[in-house]
Amino acid sequence: NENINLALEALLAGKMIQIFDSDSREGETDLVISAKAVTYKEVKWMRKDAGGLICVAVDPVAAKQLKLPFMADLVLEASKSSYDLEEVVEREGDLKYDSHSSFSLWVNHRETRTGIPDDERALTIRKIGDITEKCLSGNGVRFGDEFRTPGHVALLRAAEGLLDERNGQTELSVALAHMAGVTPAMVVCEMLDDYNGKALSKEKAKEYGKEHDLVFLEGQEIVEAYITWKSCD
Ligand code: 5RP
Ligand code: ZN
Ligand code: CA
Repeated sequence: NENINLALEALLAGKMIQIFDSDSREGETDLVISAKAVTYKEVKWMRKDAGGLICVAVDPVAAKQLKLPFMADLVLEASKSSYDLEEVVEREGDLKYDSHSSFSLWVNHRETRTGIPDDERALTIRKIGDITEKCLSGNGVRFGDEFRTPGHVALLRAAEGLLDERNGQTELSVALAHMAGVTPAMVVCEMLDDYNGKALSKEKAKEYGKEHDLVFLEGQEIVEAYITWKSCD
């Protein structure tokens, strides 16, 4: 698939791409870029032109080593000492498009001040890229030495079985990172419509991609390419 190859080249070059999950899931398009390639410019770009949450999707093996919990599990654990927390935690059937969310901790790098300005979020994001790379290359790292929670960057924990298990932008972006050979820590941000506040339609997202020279991928083509890639690997 030529489109996939162009996306892999773009990611390798540190460029932004777009991923639409599918009509039968969220039906949303995210701007996506490798965490290690992010500067204040890309944070500003996602904040102004996409407008959703700026999150970093982390590879499942790295997430496990870094001991990044699913937020829902963490709240459930905490609910053992507070009944109200049990009431509020995400339940089966809550999400209309998937069995569970991929939300993990919200973090700031310890060298940030408030954590929200574009350059501070960019620092946190790049450092998540660095620590993901370090721990996957076998270096012992301690997440808490560098990061604190709560913070202003949402971490997403990719499902253990990646695309065999879940087909959100969390897993789609991490799978692409593996195929591209970039560190599997990927920034994703939903594109919203300034006109009506809803998720930007696929058509409008594609139009935006053309204007900004971005490769536009759909979940299904990533799933298919990943199966082929895995079988050759
Ligand atoms: C975080 C989200 C987004 O939808 C993001 O695309 C990741 O989630 P998912 O893997 O469920 O698609 O909820 O803002
Ligand atoms: Zn989502
Ligand atoms: Ca999504």
